[in-house]
Amino acid sequence: MLVLGIESSCDECAAAVVMNRTEVLSSIVSSQIDLHARWGGIVPEIAARRHVETVIPVIDEAMSTASVSWGDLTGIAVTRGPGLIGSLLVGVSAAKTLSMVHQIPIIAVNHLEGHLCAACLAERPPVLPAVALIVSGGHTDLVLVEDWMRYRWLGGTLDDAAGETLDKVARCAGMGYPGGPVIDRLARNGNPSAAAFPRAWLSGGADFSFSGLKTAVVRSIRGETPLPLEDLAASVQAAIVDVLVKKTIDAAHRCGVGSVILSGGVAANSSLRSRMESEAARSGLQLTTPPLCYCTDNAAMIATAGTIHLERGEADDLAFDTLSSLTLGA
Ligand code: KG4
Ligand code: ZN
Repeated sequence: MLVLGIESSCDECAAAVVMNRTEVLSSIVSSQIDLHARWGGIVPEIAARRHVETVIPVIDEAMSTASVSWGDLTGIAVTRGPGLIGSLLVGVSAAKTLSMVHQIPIIAVNHLEGHLCAACLAERPPVLPAVALIVSGGHTDLVLVEDWMRYRWLGGTLDDAAGETLDKVARCAGMGYPGGPVIDRLARNGNPSAAAFPRAWLSGGADFSFSGLKTAVVRSIRGETPLPLEDLAASVQAAIVDVLVKKTIDAAHRCGVGSVILSGGVAANSSLRSRMESEAARSGLQLTTPPLCYCTDNAAMIATAGTIHLERGEADDLAFDTLSSLTLGA
């Protein structure tokens, strides 16, 4: 199985070729960070216009790096949503055109399923069933993965996503863009107990809320004695990591599974990775986290998800829709 993956749901334009589900022959990611940094966040119209310019060169580079030709491909997998509709349409239009011209089956992939399937690219693939925390700039979801493509949504954020909270706090404090990696870096030299920011436990369920935390942090930044940036970063990160880790471990116990998956852009966070690792080990749970380069948006994860669909004999009609909002297992 040789699958070309295409990802353009947000501000990254990516293409990858993956063989037999897990062997990444190429993974090209064209980032737009420089383009959006001056605005302090992603501008959808600018993102879509840049995707138009980069999508074909990125696909060409993925194909040539992998040394494959169109006739070698078993399928083309593309993100159909959730994401920014203008950005999504660029990747989907390119994928549909290539599928039609070269007569290659197309697979429409849910971006969240892509993040989840990135766990297959870890050294040791995940044991299923598992509880997965998919945590990114747009999502914070807990999902029971009974098997690949068989999901039950357990809960998610009622307001802001964890990555969105980190990005907004960093912007408000003038730390830089994108906020998640900056906070991760600053927090290494900060005191996580410098400020006792609120944790929303929400009666112990699988839902999350980060808007109260965001308001408390913004108030602290604008207060009379603002914290040093390192302490602020460490304290915000600790508040988010505490909740993410405890709710994931609790959900695994409630569902009676022995395995947890941590994926999505925020899964690149060093504190979240190490805390989840130690807490999972303490609870006798096996943890799978994708390698760092496959946590944030990439196309290898889309190709891997597409491969699993193809293995099950599933492909899509060219008429499939592009969807800005889409859940997993709800
Ligand atoms: O999955 P992703 O690349 O895009 C979405 O699907 O949203 O996730 C991007 C999010 C951003 O909010 C970014 O700040 C966050 O992931 N992020 C991190 C780190 N690297 C990326 N957050 C915390 N620590 C990091 N090292
Ligand atoms: Zn993503």
